[in-house]
Amino acid sequence: MELCYHLLTIHILFCLSSNTPLAANLFNSKTDASALLSFKSQISSDPFGVLSSWNESLHHCQWQGILCGKHHPDRVTALVLDSKQLTGSISPSLANLTFLQRISLSDNQFDGIIPVEIGYLNRLRFLNLSVNIIEGIIPSTLGNCSNLQVIHLLHNNLRVTIPPNLVQCKKLEIIHLGNNFLTGGIPLEFGYIPQLVTLGLHVNNLTGTIPSTLGNLTSLKHLYLHQNNFDGHIPDSIGNLTSLLKFYAYQNSFTGFIPPALSNLKKLGYLYFNENSFHGHIPSTLGNLTNLLDLRLYQNKLSGTIPPALGNLNNINILYLDQNRLSFIPAALGKLQKLWYFDIYNNSISGEIPHSLFNISTIVTLQLGFNRLEGTLPFNMCDGCPNLQNLHTYVNQLNGQIPLSISNCSTLTDLQLDSNSFSGTIPSTIGFLQNLHIVTMRTNKLEVRRSEDWIFLDAMANCTSLQVRDIGNNKLQGTLPSSIGNLSTSLLILSLFGNPISGNIPIHIGCVWIVGTKKKKKEEEEKKL
Ligand SMILES: *[C@@H]1O[C@H](CO)[C@@H](O)[C@H](O)[C@H]1NC(C)=O
Ligand SMILES: *[C@@H]1O[C@H](CO)[C@@H](O)[C@H](O)[C@H]1NC(C)=O
Ligand SMILES: *[C@@H]1O[C@H](CO)[C@@H](O)[C@H](O)[C@H]1NC(C)=O
Ligand SMILES: *[C@@H]1O[C@H](CO)[C@@H](O)[C@H](O)[C@H]1NC(C)=O
Ligand SMILES: *[C@@H]1O[C@H](CO)[C@@H](O)[C@H](O)[C@H]1NC(C)=O
Ligand SMILES: *[C@@H]1O[C@H](CO)[C@@H](O)[C@H](O)[C@H]1NC(C)=O
Ligand SMILES: *[C@@H]1O[C@H](CO)[C@@H](O)[C@H](O)[C@H]1NC(C)=O
Ligand SMILES: *[C@@H]1O[C@H](CO)[C@@H](O)[C@H](O)[C@H]1NC(C)=O
Ligand SMILES: *[C@@H]1O[C@H](CO)[C@@H](O)[C@H](O)[C@H]1NC(C)=O
Ligand SMILES: *[C@@H]1O[C@H](CO)[C@@H](O)[C@H](O)[C@H]1NC(C)=O
Ligand SMILES: *[C@@H]1O[C@H](CO)[C@@H](O)[C@H](O)[C@H]1NC(C)=O
Ligand SMILES: *[C@@H]1O[C@H](CO)[C@@H](O)[C@H](O)[C@H]1NC(C)=O
Repeated sequence: MELCYHLLTIHILFCLSSNTPLAANLFNSKTDASALLSFKSQISSDPFGVLSSWNESLHHCQWQGILCGKHHPDRVTALVLDSKQLTGSISPSLANLTFLQRISLSDNQFDGIIPVEIGYLNRLRFLNLSVNIIEGIIPSTLGNCSNLQVIHLLHNNLRVTIPPNLVQCKKLEIIHLGNNFLTGGIPLEFGYIPQLVTLGLHVNNLTGTIPSTLGNLTSLKHLYLHQNNFDGHIPDSIGNLTSLLKFYAYQNSFTGFIPPALSNLKKLGYLYFNENSFHGHIPSTLGNLTNLLDLRLYQNKLSGTIPPALGNLNNINILYLDQNRLSFIPAALGKLQKLWYFDIYNNSISGEIPHSLFNISTIVTLQLGFNRLEGTLPFNMCDGCPNLQNLHTYVNQLNGQIPLSISNCSTLTDLQLDSNSFSGTIPSTIGFLQNLHIVTMRTNKLEVRRSEDWIFLDAMANCTSLQVRDIGNNKLQGTLPSSIGNLSTSLLILSLFGNPISGNIPIHIGCVWIVGTKKKKKEEEEKKL
């Protein structure tokens, strides 16, 4: 009885060892090793020697950059060799690694093409070949990788069109094809990849319009279309992308209105529509985007007033509206208590600067130049903005005095007030601004009539960082005080051009003088050099 039992077990064991799947695995294991060696043979430079472990004395699953399966311990599931400074081409032999799920060869110097055979890897989930010098086309066989979740081909030299059959990869979550030389349009089938989170097509030579089908991508968080040749309108269906966090469409040729439907994108943090041809008004519904951090609409053809509703963007840090045709700044913008950059340079804005802007405690830069602003700077302008560094109001129609309280803007580094109608004397309190680098007040109606009025010059001896000061083309008259020699040694340019000034130019400071009608470089300084 006992003997019989033993014979039976031995027989069963024998049967198992000749079982075909095991034999097949043994064969495929050798194929994996030889496919990897074939991959290695195409690498012409490996400065870190990462592939030196790829030799017969180690099992291939122990080679650097290789991972094998849990259930099939001999089969390669991942090839991960990012940032190893490898040079060479990608061998089609990878197609024999039939268990491969992950290919990550980013940030190397792989050239040549993407082998069409990669499309045969039907277990492939992750393909990252970004930051290489791969050329040719994106093979349409990739549409066969029905498990593909990530296709990352950023920063290569890929050309021609995006293969529409990528849409067969229903599990795609990330498509990153930016910084290549791709042409043609966005395949409208991209709207049917339900789990897509990132669509990056930026910095290519893509054309055409945004297909309205993209509105179906309710998981989409990142839409990068910038720096292409797209045109047409932004479809209203984009308003359905309720997961969107970043939408970059800048530097294209988009036209039409900014769709009010964008207000549904409640999670949106970054909206960059700059450098297109959008026209019409800024929709007031954008004020509903309360998670917006950074809104860039500059260099378009937007007109009308800045909607007061934008005052509801209570998380916004950066607001670029410059180089449009906007006409009015609402006081409500003073509610933006996280704003630190506000730019409306080169619009057609008239009326007063809302004093509330100077009540934004976080504001660092107010760029208001090249408009038609009128009225005065508020007398207490620096009481509510302790972080102000850059104040540009040049080329406007502002008048009145430069407020004494300017001394309270203690972080001010760059003050540009030229080409307005400021009058009165220059406040000596300016001497408290220790961080000042640049002051320009050229072409105003500032006055010096009595010798006491020059006191601001004495005071400015305190501004030890000052490099440029331009108070040319005003009404400064009389004799320059000798104390001008105490001005900062860092001063590079001092312009008094166009003022009716007389007197001697002190010779003991080293800077470029622009006094009277001609430039005069100090001889003393030239001798030193
Ligand atoms: C094979 O790789 C191992 C591990 O890196 C190394 O120690 C050995 O020297 C290599 N053998 C050859 C012949 O290169
Ligand atoms: C895959 O392996 C087979 C058998 O070793 C070989 O004939 C074939 O050339 C390999 N394919 C590629 C693309 O290297
Ligand atoms: C792909 O590689 C690039 C470059 O190394 C890297 O920045 C990126 O995060 C990688 N993508 C993924 C999804 O891991
Ligand atoms: C792979 O894709 C190509 C082109 O899309 C197709 O012709 C071919 O039949 C597919 N092959 C496999 C193995 O799925
Ligand atoms: C982009 O495409 C246009 C035509 O569609 C062509 O004239 C232009 O040279 C291309 N630019 C680049 C950088 O490939
Ligand atoms: C996708 O979008 C198009 C156009 O916006 C629409 O007609 C279609 O019904 C949508 N399909 C799905 C599956 O949502
Ligand atoms: C998507 O957007 C379109 C156009 O704005 C709209 O008609 C449609 O109802 C939206 N679909 C969904 C599912 O929200
Ligand atoms: C969006 O903003 C508009 C205009 O400011 C307002 O009338 C509307 O109620 C807001 N809608 C939502 C959903 O918040
Ligand atoms: C102002 O913007 C217009 C285009 O809107 C441009 O033509 C002009 O050169 C800009 N002016 C300045 C001073 O930047
Ligand atoms: C600035 O803020 C202060 C304190 O919150 C307030 O009293 C004052 O009215 C504000 N000034 C302007 C011009 O909004
Ligand atoms: C500077 O601010 C303080 C505190 O708000 C104020 O008392 C003082 O008058 C201001 N200085 C000037 C010159 O306005
Ligand atoms: C120079 O700065 C110091 C320190 O801030 C201050 O006490 C002094 O009054 C200033 N002098 C002038 C002339 O402004």
